[in-house]
Amino acid sequence: MSVVRSAPSPGTRRGTGRLFKIVSAAAAAALVLAGCNAARDVNAEEPEDDPVLHSSFSLTEEQLLQMVQSQPDPLPARVAEQPQRFLELADSVLDLEHDFILLVDKQHPLPPDYQPADLVSLSDYHGRIGYAAADRAVREAIVDDLLAMAEEAREDGVHLLVQSAYRSWSYQQTLFSNYVARHGEEAAERFSARPGHSQHQLGTAVDFAPIGHQFTGTDDDLWLRENAWRFGFSLSYPDGLEAVTGYIYEPWHYRWIGRDATQLEREFFGGIQQYMLEFLHTHADTLRAARID
Ligand code: DAL
Ligand code: ZN
Repeated sequence: MSVVRSAPSPGTRRGTGRLFKIVSAAAAAALVLAGCNAARDVNAEEPEDDPVLHSSFSLTEEQLLQMVQSQPDPLPARVAEQPQRFLELADSVLDLEHDFILLVDKQHPLPPDYQPADLVSLSDYHGRIGYAAADRAVREAIVDDLLAMAEEAREDGVHLLVQSAYRSWSYQQTLFSNYVARHGEEAAERFSARPGHSQHQLGTAVDFAPIGHQFTGTDDDLWLRENAWRFGFSLSYPDGLEAVTGYIYEPWHYRWIGRDATQLEREFFGGIQQYMLEFLHTHADTLRAARID
């Protein structure tokens, strides 16, 4: 600093040039003292920072791997194999409306007054999708994919029928207390959400008929297992994952999360929606903050 202060005042070309030389000399000396290789050879290339992985994110591979390292399998290994692909899909998923990927489970409820603004009755689409009663409603945002899925299933000889869709907080309360009265609280907890804790309140979850163990192995079940993801629908409560999701196997319950999100879920989260939504719940803000506009 004393070197700079004693330099002639800047403002003239000559003064600026001398100042630059003095500062450069001081900087080079500092690098030598720091043992930096670049300072030993002034023609050496600048040492590079870890390169960023994807043009939309200011994240290095190391930072990304650190973010996923304590996540359940298969995420850490999959990201290590294809970090750019992970960020490419994550980039699209982060653009989704927040509620489409919102974690709603036993620990993360919705408020009683939560109601999506764009609910539409399935009876408006009569003939294009089967539904159990005229009051079955979903968010308009999912209708295109729901109808496209129903149409393709129909072409394959499968006639999907929506048994249950949007549920208000108060309807969940009625359902849950009926189940508790019939089966006891401990049993009810395993297959029915307490009010505010059901994905059905989002207006993006649908139950296909018939609800119950008799759904397993039906043509509808087999077709949905194979194809639902292509239309942005994801199985919320897979077999054998009650400890993870909080609920027993519900092969009839699908939540629409969008096609980019089902792709991300399949490629990086082993097809397990809960793992992906938990990850996004924890890390979506960090990923958004690392985005380059
Ligand atoms: N059956 C699911 C868990 C619900 O009640 O939303
Ligand atoms: Zn359901």
